[in-house]
Amino acid sequence: MPKLIIDNIPVEVADGVTVLEAAQSVDIPIPHFCWHPALGKAGACRVCAVKMVDGPVKGIQMSCMLPAQDGMVVSTTDPEAVAMRRNVIEWLMINHPHDCPVCDEGGECQLQDYTIAGGHGIRRYSGTKRTHINQDLGPYIEHEMNRCIQCYRCVRFYQEYAGGTDFGVMGSAGRVYYGRFEDGQLESPFSGNLVDICPTGVFTDKTARFKARYWDYDMAPSVCPGCSLGCNTTPVARYRELLKMTARRNEAVNGWFICDRSRFANDAVNDPQRPRTPLIDGREASRDEALEALLLRIAQIEELYGSGSIAVVGSSRLALEGAALLPRLAECCSAGALCYFTSQEESDRTLPLIELLSSGKPASQRDVRESDCIVVCGCDPLQKAPMLALAVRQAWRNGAAVYVVPFGSAQGTEGVQKSTILQMNRWLSGVEASQEPKRLYDAISVHSLDAVPLADAKQPVLICSATNAPDRLAETLEQQSNLKLAVIFPAANSYVAAQLAGAHGAVSLEHAVATGKIKGIIAVEADIPPQLLEGIPFVAALDWRMTETVQAAQIVLPTTAWVEMDGTCINNEGRAQRFKKVMNPGVPVRGLDPAGHPPHIHRTIPPGGEPQPAWQTVAALIEGLCGEQITEPLSGKWERLQELAAESEGVMINDL
Ligand code: FES
Repeated sequence: MPKLIIDNIPVEVADGVTVLEAAQSVDIPIPHFCWHPALGKAGACRVCAVKMVDGPVKGIQMSCMLPAQDGMVVSTTDPEAVAMRRNVIEWLMINHPHDCPVCDEGGECQLQDYTIAGGHGIRRYSGTKRTHINQDLGPYIEHEMNRCIQCYRCVRFYQEYAGGTDFGVMGSAGRVYYGRFEDGQLESPFSGNLVDICPTGVFTDKTARFKARYWDYDMAPSVCPGCSLGCNTTPVARYRELLKMTARRNEAVNGWFICDRSRFANDAVNDPQRPRTPLIDGREASRDEALEALLLRIAQIEELYGSGSIAVVGSSRLALEGAALLPRLAECCSAGALCYFTSQEESDRTLPLIELLSSGKPASQRDVRESDCIVVCGCDPLQKAPMLALAVRQAWRNGAAVYVVPFGSAQGTEGVQKSTILQMNRWLSGVEASQEPKRLYDAISVHSLDAVPLADAKQPVLICSATNAPDRLAETLEQQSNLKLAVIFPAANSYVAAQLAGAHGAVSLEHAVATGKIKGIIAVEADIPPQLLEGIPFVAALDWRMTETVQAAQIVLPTTAWVEMDGTCINNEGRAQRFKKVMNPGVPVRGLDPAGHPPHIHRTIPPGGEPQPAWQTVAALIEGLCGEQITEPLSGKWERLQELAAESEGVMINDL
């Protein structure tokens, strides 16, 4: 535990911590470009210079490269250190195009910030600038090489951290080029992180190009609903349009990064076809009219077919707030069935896994990254939960053994072994990879779980999917006390659905419909297969997506998307995380008029801005049916989550 002094402040840090990190630990900022917490040091940019005034090392040193040692006396404000950093910035800016006014990074650019902070305001260099030809890197990432300061962050992330091979650094001497051998879409499923990691504007989000500046953004901490991992994000919106998604750090979950499926998935929220106006038998209506009509139809169904003829159906994508109110709604309308799963098979598979995870052995993404032995059983994390595959890669890079065990007929060893960038690339946009795919990690193929030397491992993790969990999983976990389990569930809130289904004795909709008693369905953000709706006289849908269920419903009550509300989700470990409202619901201004101008009409709410979070509509139905007013959906067991900060690492619901 070295003890040192930085700017007159005594600091004690763990062995191996650098001077830069030691300074950060006491809130002393030191400029840095090439150093990144997830990538470590490179010593490439020289902007982290400090003066070592006394101790075992003397003079100007790069603080990111120097391990903290006992007796060091460090100054970040010594005139020599300040001059060194100012000179470095000036050198870096010699070839920079100074194009901040037309650069999408402007306002959120580390180079811009340090240039201003370092006092480099006058350009003295009058020679010719070095210029590069940019590449077309596909529909997601814009390339502008002239802005590059050669910090190597992009290539270190792309190749080392994420295992990509189609992007690299080329050139010699003063002409260093970061790109592909030829134009073409970046093949890594994590390529969007280049946007976040580049400290200047070489890589910017093409999908949000020229749409807004940092100070225009609506932003809030959020959680990705793209899979069951619950990676943390900061969505960016303006004028009711979701512009882009950026990664938000959560060391326990996704670390610093997100996958491209999370980053480039704004279309559903911005979809012009989204249901935004309540409908009664296809006719547009006000929310109050639609609520009244729904209450009337519920009463009619009961009168016609008797009590127990309604099914209240939630889903694995419904946030906890809405899902937690469904049992009460089912009681109030004397429902014959409360359902969180449409498929009996999914229900049967998911509930036992939730019980296993509740017994205290869930693995976080951090556990996976820090594991020394990982067993991937009959699933392909890269396809179903890409960040889990990236976590496996980090463990593998640190020396962990990765075993692949095939299970079931559909997932042979070959299928699992093809967990490569090539396949991911295909689901992203159908672009063919230019070369043989590179695996994210090398795996040892074994025929069964028994062949894995789990007993020798210190922190083993078993990864499986809810659709293909291995037999005797419970016994294996019991026998191997330090073995943790990471399950890939089909949707963001599968855990919520299974928890509530177990606690309230819910059945699958498939089962309920098979009884022949169900004559009316209230679907709350539920995707019901059309065959289950056959012969059901009445369907009401509460949803923000234009699903087949919405299209089949007689009454539609639009709800808000997750970026338009505060809410809670529970990820595959059982970690509850809060997400905050980023933007108001409503038709994006850009979608109202081809010229992009807002209409000159006074309104109290924006066009299409009527939708409310699903839980509020469910609460309104409960009030209409039972007279009970619900102002806070998280009560009882969930009450503590009301205070949970969205910026926290979340809380394990086992600890509630
Ligand atoms: Fe230290 Fe770049 S941050 S050399």
